Amino acid sequence: MRTIAVINQKGGVGKTTIAINLASAMAHRGQRTLLVDVDPQSHCAVGLAVPEEQIEQSMFDVLIGQARGEPLRVSEILWKISERFELAPSTIDLATFETQTTGLAERENCLRDVLLQLRNEFDYVVIDCPPSVGLLTFNALRAANDVIVPVEMGYFSLHGLSKQLETLNALSQQCPERANVMILASMYDIRTKMAREILGELRKHFAERMFKTVVNFNTKLKEAASLGQPISEYDPASKGFKDFLALTDELVGTDTQVHRAEMVNTLQTRLQAISASADELLSSIQQPQTSIEPDKTKTTLEQKLADFYGVRQDKGIVIFSALYPRAQTVQIAGDFNGWKPEAAPLEKIGDGGNWQIKLPLNTGIYRYRLVVDGQWQQDPYNEITEMNPFGEFNSVLNVE
Ligand SMILES: Nc1ncnc2c1ncn2[C@@H]1O[C@H](COP(=O)(O)OP(=O)(O)OP(=O)(O)O)[C@@H](O)[C@H]1O
Ligand SMILES: [Mg+2]
Repeated sequence: MRTIAVINQKGGVGKTTIAINLASAMAHRGQRTLLVDVDPQSHCAVGLAVPEEQIEQSMFDVLIGQARGEPLRVSEILWKISERFELAPSTIDLATFETQTTGLAERENCLRDVLLQLRNEFDYVVIDCPPSVGLLTFNALRAANDVIVPVEMGYFSLHGLSKQLETLNALSQQCPERANVMILASMYDIRTKMAREILGELRKHFAERMFKTVVNFNTKLKEAASLGQPISEYDPASKGFKDFLALTDELVGTDTQVHRAEMVNTLQTRLQAISASADELLSSIQQPQTSIEPDKTKTTLEQKLADFYGVRQDKGIVIFSALYPRAQTVQIAGDFNGWKPEAAPLEKIGDGGNWQIKLPLNTGIYRYRLVVDGQWQQDPYNEITEMNPFGEFNSVLNVE
């Protein structure tokens, strides 16, 4: 049994889409596959039309049972999705796993230990992780042989990658297991020059740490998820399905003792190498210089990002900026406007997909979410988040 965790602390980079469709493509290729959801948002159940109200026991019960020494068999909670494809769903109470297990020994090994029960029943386990680096993600790291880090193909994602890997690295300091960490380009839009350039740079720097396969941006993948189907069922002729078959073949193709012995390195060393490489990559992509005064005009990508996206404060005014080239509307809802997105639409600035709003806010701590084409999500450009009572993540802002 080979266990693959899909990890990235940044929200909305395609983790769930990859986990669901990779698992279903694995099953399509004849592998007995289990999809494990450890994200309290339980998006795997949503994306596979498993009715949430009918999930009586979930990964929460399995993990908490293991932590407390009252084990519940994983096989008790499985939902059959299709031939050879089963789901171990999550529920929102997983959000309390960390607090409920405070002080319990081995709480970071619960997932690894419960999956051992299934080692003769499945060939592959795919784990979908939450967009955070808490105890749940750590459990996935400890359980995994392979870690897939999806990277959305945009400059900002790249900026985030280095930071995200630093955190993963810090977590992995305590992780003696070996895992094979690989980067997967996600939501790649070949028509965009920027995406092509970034893919080229990533390939140059990450080389064998990157999958040859790329997950293209494909609206069929979005449609399939909203109808509760994997792409293998919704549209087997789509580009989306071809990408996941290719990813499956690439993964299964490396599943030999010989290759694995060569490829596997300590998690810590791998992550350090990737993180350093991301920093180097970032500093090498610079804006073209337009003036003869290089010191004043030389803008590194990092500076540009800091200038444009995220939250900035300027004399009592807070400026929220985000990049959504494909969005029709972007709004903001938070405790400062009664969580009413219609009260605060962002304005589209130029043709590059930049959206912005300026709000006068008093000193204090605020929680908010962005609403992009009606979909609520955390601000991808603000790394400070906090889980809300719905198991989703609010962005947090400290106005000073
Ligand atoms: N390759 C793709 N092509 C088109 N749309 C995609 C693709 N991958 C993901 N999406 C869409 O982008 C959105 C975010 O994707 P997804 O939910 O998979 O991200 P995530 O990383 O799991 O998010 P979270 O961090 O909240 O769990 C979804 O609406 C999904 O349908
Ligand atoms: Mg997800």
